[in-house]
Amino acid sequence: MLKISPKTKIVDIINEDYTVLSVLLRLKILPGYGEKTIDQIAQEINLDTDFLINLLSAFIDTEFSDYTQFLNYDIKFITNFLKETHDFYKEEKIPELKTLFSKLIETAKLKNNIKIIEHYFNTYLEEFYAHMEYEEKQVFPYVQELNNILETGEANKSFIEGFKNFSIQEYVDQHEDGTQEKLNDLKNILLKYTPELTEYKVYYQVISKLYRLGKDLEYHMNLENRVLVPRLSQMAAEINKLLDENKIKFVQP
Ligand SMILES: [Fe+2]
Ligand SMILES: [Fe+2]
Repeated sequence: MLKISPKTKIVDIINEDYTVLSVLLRLKILPGYGEKTIDQIAQEINLDTDFLINLLSAFIDTEFSDYTQFLNYDIKFITNFLKETHDFYKEEKIPELKTLFSKLIETAKLKNNIKIIEHYFNTYLEEFYAHMEYEEKQVFPYVQELNNILETGEANKSFIEGFKNFSIQEYVDQHEDGTQEKLNDLKNILLKYTPELTEYKVYYQVISKLYRLGKDLEYHMNLENRVLVPRLSQMAAEINKLLDENKIKFVQP
């Protein structure tokens, strides 16, 4: 397993695991890499070198477990990256899968049987979208607001009234019964119950894409569960303490 350091070349990381390219593109680290090292790239895109190393290591190394270092980085970097990842799912991964899935349906000899799988696929996508929507409309802005309060010492009164109602546990629970498990079900249904097809090239592509999405989602969820959630709890606790000590200035929206 490649150990990434500031002097590691981008090309060597891609040679270790080409799927990391999708993370690089999400970070707007675009091809034409030449002999560029992590250090040079981090400077070019104005990102902390260690943060970039950890972000890529967590992706290529399935044993990566030291998420504690992420807790020191600017939370804005993290939420931006999570949001970029959602865009990548919505703009690339999901449309790709949808196209392949409709091709798969066409290859089924008996349409009825495949319709049940199609229905499961559509339900899965709906839930996946709803979860991303919830994070983008509620969780990420909430994180942003908590961060602003801690940076400025000022809070909007109406935000503080809602603050007590936001449940971090509810967010954790959504991940627990989560989309990852549904994706595993979908993969298993396709492996166990796909009816006879006229050809299997598209089937193989669908399965490959689902496994790749699964790997990407696991990475994404690790960042949410092991970085975003602890940071949320920590920030909420700090704000509660400041509120108790009357150290927050209230401003009108
Ligand atoms: Fe997410
Ligand atoms: Fe999530």
